Amino acid sequence: MSFTFKDFPADRDDFRSDVLAGLAACPKSIPPKYFYDEAGCRLFESICAQPEYTLTRTEGALMASRLSDIAAAIGPMDCIVEPGAGECAKVRLLLQALHPAHLVVLDIAGGPLSIAAQSLSRDHPGLAVTALGMDFIHDLEAAAPHLPEGRRLIYYPGSSIGNFAPGAATALLTRFRRLAGAAGQLLIGFDLKKDPLQLHAAYNDAAGVTAAFNLNLLERLNRELDANFDTSRFRHYAFYNPTAGRIEMHLASLAAQDVSVAGQRFHFALGETLHTENSYKFRPDEFSALATNAGWPLKAEWELDGFAVQLYGNVD
Ligand code: AVI
Repeated sequence: MSFTFKDFPADRDDFRSDVLAGLAACPKSIPPKYFYDEAGCRLFESICAQPEYTLTRTEGALMASRLSDIAAAIGPMDCIVEPGAGECAKVRLLLQALHPAHLVVLDIAGGPLSIAAQSLSRDHPGLAVTALGMDFIHDLEAAAPHLPEGRRLIYYPGSSIGNFAPGAATALLTRFRRLAGAAGQLLIGFDLKKDPLQLHAAYNDAAGVTAAFNLNLLERLNRELDANFDTSRFRHYAFYNPTAGRIEMHLASLAAQDVSVAGQRFHFALGETLHTENSYKFRPDEFSALATNAGWPLKAEWELDGFAVQLYGNVD
């Protein structure tokens, strides 16, 4: 068994300056990557188990039912690289089918990643596992020296690509292309456009877990940036925007109020929102156009109940 963990400590100044810049902007916004402190990671796991949020279960069912086709389309692989691996749960299925020699997992939440990757490594004695605790959106290129030579598969499941605006998604996929190399492939899962009410329900679960996840961002600012948000004066507000083809998540101010963050004051008007996340939904052809623009030729695709998985790379 070989397990290596390397932490690339996030720059606290980036967090502070991104938050302050986002609160000073009009409209106010904060990048969604800052949801994922320890409490945020736990809440996200719980969202995935909510009855209304079918995305994770549907992707799991699609991967399980089409695994042998997917593995055959990929062919022999030396290394799987998973950015945003979190609990390292999804990649387990692929490991069973592809038997690569190396697995490299990346996540902004380094602590939980290292625990999950170590446990995975125990279950796969022949696999060399490298866990990199990094903000890969910022530091992806720093992962390159940790990748072995050979055929690489970038695995990016869970519709995480939907959290980027189209231009930023193309830019990230272009960086994945460079990291994968000429013989590399990309296996990516994304949520499809569907009944807006079904999407609405997925981001407004009855148990209030998505609301708690969204509001935890304010609690995180209170804990880490000496802010004084009163979370009872903000409401989770998520809706499907059909023109943009995305769920938007906001925190709406329930009063005119001033808040201080890292020594700076910010005014919220009654009803003003802090935009915290976009979650784009795609048609399969819309997504493949975006990936093709990033230099990835489409090789194969699979679909189940409003979710798609596509495989990109050169056909050998
Ligand atoms: C991680 N990402 C794909 C999730 C999504 O659906 O956009 C994050 C999430 N936000 C609210 N619920 C889930």
